Amino acid sequence: MAGNIACLRGWHPALARAELSALFPNNEIRPLDSQRLMEISGELDLQDAANIIQYSSGIQAILHDPVIIDWSGEDCLNELISKVSHKIEKSGKKGSFGVFHWRQEGKIKGLSGSKIAGLIGGVAGRNGFSIDLDNPDNKLGLVLDGSCGKVVCGWLIDYISQEENSNTRRATERPFFKPISLDPKLARLAVNLAGGPLDEYAILDPMTGTGGFLIEAGLIGRNVIALDLEQEMVDGASKNILWAFDCEEVTQIENVEIIRGDATDLSNSIPKRWHRKISGLVLDPPYGRNSHGSLSHFELIKNTLNSFRDVATDNATVVLILPIQPLEVKKLQLEIDSQEINLLHGQWNDFKHMLNDCKWNIRGLWVEHVHSSLGRLILHASNDPLN
Ligand SMILES: C[S@@+](CC[C@H](N)C(=O)[O-])C[C@H]1O[C@@H](n2cnc3c(N)ncnc32)[C@H](O)[C@@H]1O
Repeated sequence: MAGNIACLRGWHPALARAELSALFPNNEIRPLDSQRLMEISGELDLQDAANIIQYSSGIQAILHDPVIIDWSGEDCLNELISKVSHKIEKSGKKGSFGVFHWRQEGKIKGLSGSKIAGLIGGVAGRNGFSIDLDNPDNKLGLVLDGSCGKVVCGWLIDYISQEENSNTRRATERPFFKPISLDPKLARLAVNLAGGPLDEYAILDPMTGTGGFLIEAGLIGRNVIALDLEQEMVDGASKNILWAFDCEEVTQIENVEIIRGDATDLSNSIPKRWHRKISGLVLDPPYGRNSHGSLSHFELIKNTLNSFRDVATDNATVVLILPIQPLEVKKLQLEIDSQEINLLHGQWNDFKHMLNDCKWNIRGLWVEHVHSSLGRLILHASNDPLN
């Protein structure tokens, strides 16, 4: 029986799953017949898990000690209520109680979340709990997943509603916006994929533009250093981070630094105190002609990746965003040997060889559809020893 089930957001379940694995590196993650229900095997520190939900992009909730029912008809209701009643009685919990229910991946025919929540609330009332739907001491989560027909009910470690989630913030609201600005939910996911669980190590955003990665990493408390070759971008990203933190000087934000510098010469561009303290690189290179006019798109990325080795920790990882032609058939995830990848700049096979030469090992590839003539390839790679 699963000890903990993560419920992923619907924006990009495949990326959300990768983020979940990166944020729980000591647990195995397995899908529970749905792209949005993931079993987290092994021990979990519940307080750590609650913090992770707060700063993740793609995790909506984690249900602890869940009851899982494959819904096949009305009889299942009795089974669910009886198992959940047992759970409530044996919990030893006291205080107020509330059930939070939601539906994902479509409906389960004939099933109403609010009806089941009401029945469970009745059981809790008979067990001496007072009912509080705003901020109860004890929360049960009830998820109805239409894709696999499963109903999952367990103690909510934490739950972030759509309204509270970073996903509802928009790059267009910032004082310095350009069409290149990354969507906050993708930016946050990328910094978590590159950085893993929050620690003292830093994230590097060496082509920060309007500061998409910088802001998301900074807001969740990661140490982050950002650079850009263009002073206009350094000033604009600084304006954005001051706006996001609601303060006057970047120096007031302890975990954030922004400087003008060259991504292909990181050991000279970045202050020495950051050297070997950077465990993750998030890289969103220019889509058109790059500012480093003499370098091709590939060379710019290659030189940046090589330069990153001079300042990175030994086990660093990279998340790279590459513009591609939209896929003919929409997919969220691709294999490394996929023939469907058409980069806007150069050939995928050449790109793979370049990564290989630089000793970066591809761990995963995902696709985001942007519009009818643009997609994004999101590539996660880890570094191999150089010899
Ligand atoms: C696609 S934009 C980044 C967009 C960014 N992720 C955002 O959310 O706004 C690429 C940025 O790379 C910068 N750039 C290009 N070559 C660079 C280099 N060699 N070193 C540092 N920055 C560079 C450009 O000035 C541009 O701002």
